[in-house]
Amino acid sequence: MLRITEAWKTFGAGTPDAMPVLGGLNLHLERGDFVTIIGSNGAGKSTLFNAIAGSVLLDRGRISLDGEDITWLREHRRARSMGRLFQDPRMGTAPDLTIEENLALVYSRGTGRPPLALALKRKERGLFAEALARLDMGLETRLKVRVGALSGGQRQALTLLLAVMIPPKLLLLDEHTAALDPVAAKKVQALTSEIAGGKEILPGGRQGGPITTLMITHSIPAALELGTRTVMMHRGRIVMDLSGGERSALSAEELLERYRETIREEPALEHIIPGA
Ligand SMILES: Nc1ncnc2c1ncn2[C@@H]1O[C@H](COP(=O)(O)OP(=O)(O)OP(=O)(O)O)[C@@H](O)[C@H]1O
Ligand SMILES: [Mg+2]
Repeated sequence: MLRITEAWKTFGAGTPDAMPVLGGLNLHLERGDFVTIIGSNGAGKSTLFNAIAGSVLLDRGRISLDGEDITWLREHRRARSMGRLFQDPRMGTAPDLTIEENLALVYSRGTGRPPLALALKRKERGLFAEALARLDMGLETRLKVRVGALSGGQRQALTLLLAVMIPPKLLLLDEHTAALDPVAAKKVQALTSEIAGGKEILPGGRQGGPITTLMITHSIPAALELGTRTVMMHRGRIVMDLSGGERSALSAEELLERYRETIREEPALEHIIPGA
């Protein structure tokens, strides 16, 4: 459903500061896949997400989603079919609006109502309260609270809900639990598994089964615990791709060891891209 073919990207190409970041990356996802991505700092993970979301355009290569070539599609057009979360819990929600208003803003996009019609019907308020209760973050009684007043974990859970309220084709999670305390991180991770696995979050919602998900993480245990497949990025390429029995048999220590071995053997991207 997502197919990335020979993706190349160099920032500042042709200048002395040229920074090769993607080096002929290939990745293919089936519908409903939940792929965790690990890789060292600067490996190009966030750039890969930027390329998928359209905030970075590739120098070469193609990206297609559900059979549609989106390589040159504008970012805002892709946003309709993608949900995205970042490390910073402050992104993805409006701090000065209440929980209810944030929900209504996104909901109105799905129903075609004018976006500023923030006043909710009673039925909708009940619906949202139920959805919030399913997050199990104590938010269902706080519909009138400003989102800026929530904890990081609560806010990330809410952002997750907003991201899937209109079911996206693709969910992109860029270290979305990295800034949370361990307890909140675990909770948001569990919620991520449920939501990606297809748990219906909006009662009577339109969610149809599992959501195809890509999750970047620096936690090797989380990379193995969540999802169905784990890929490792190094210098702008996928250097390891694990699924099935091979993945489930692997411990976090073994994965870390394999990672170390793999990067020892990989050439630097500067040697792969001539003149970069
Ligand atoms: N817009 C940009 N302009 C110039 N250089 C950039 C840009 N975006 C990213 N880079 C550089 O590309 C390299 C890869 O960055 P990227 O953010 O993709 O890495 P990452 O794998 O997400 O790392 P981290 O684990 O630290 O988040 C880095 O050296 C970064 O400085
Ligand atoms: Mg990053």
